[in-house]
Amino acid sequence: MLVNLMERTYVMVKPDGVQRCLVGEIVSRIEKKGLKIAALRMNVMTEAAAKEHYKEHSERPFFGPLVSFVTSGPSVSMVIEGNNAIKIMRAINGATNPVDALPGTIRGDLTVDMGRNVVHASDAPESAEREIALHFEESEISGYPRADDEWLYE
Ligand code: RTP
Ligand code: MG
Repeated sequence: MLVNLMERTYVMVKPDGVQRCLVGEIVSRIEKKGLKIAALRMNVMTEAAAKEHYKEHSERPFFGPLVSFVTSGPSVSMVIEGNNAIKIMRAINGATNPVDALPGTIRGDLTVDMGRNVVHASDAPESAEREIALHFEESEISGYPRADDEWLYE
């Protein structure tokens, strides 16, 4: 088992996913894929955290509406762990714009509008590290073996 290649990523079910009762559907897809939930919490993101989270977009016209939306209600924050978890989670979520998101992905199957695309996942190791530290204390993240780990990894 390639434990030393384990990677962590930050995943969020955005407020639209919570309101549309898609939390179970989304978490289920992640679990069934074989990725591990290392932390999970529901809360209303503060404006400060949202601005920091999306700071790469601070000059973009959609920044204000994006921050308002992501703080508009409860969202579910997760730390997801597994080999290549960052790339795998981006693939599970699908393209940012649901018009381009393939069937079989969360956005391809469940969404129609770019501003209501129900999920977020970190896009690179640096952003994963930054976002996990922004949204979680290290003590909230659990390291534990999945019962099926030895059937998931060669
Ligand atoms: P996310 O960060 O939410 O996982 O999405 P992403 O990496 O696939 O896309 P990103 O480029 O980081 O954009 C963040 C979120 O901003 C909204 N957006 N709107 N109107 C627009 O042109 C536009 N572009 C991006 C989307 O909700 C996107 O998920
Ligand atoms: Mg992004």
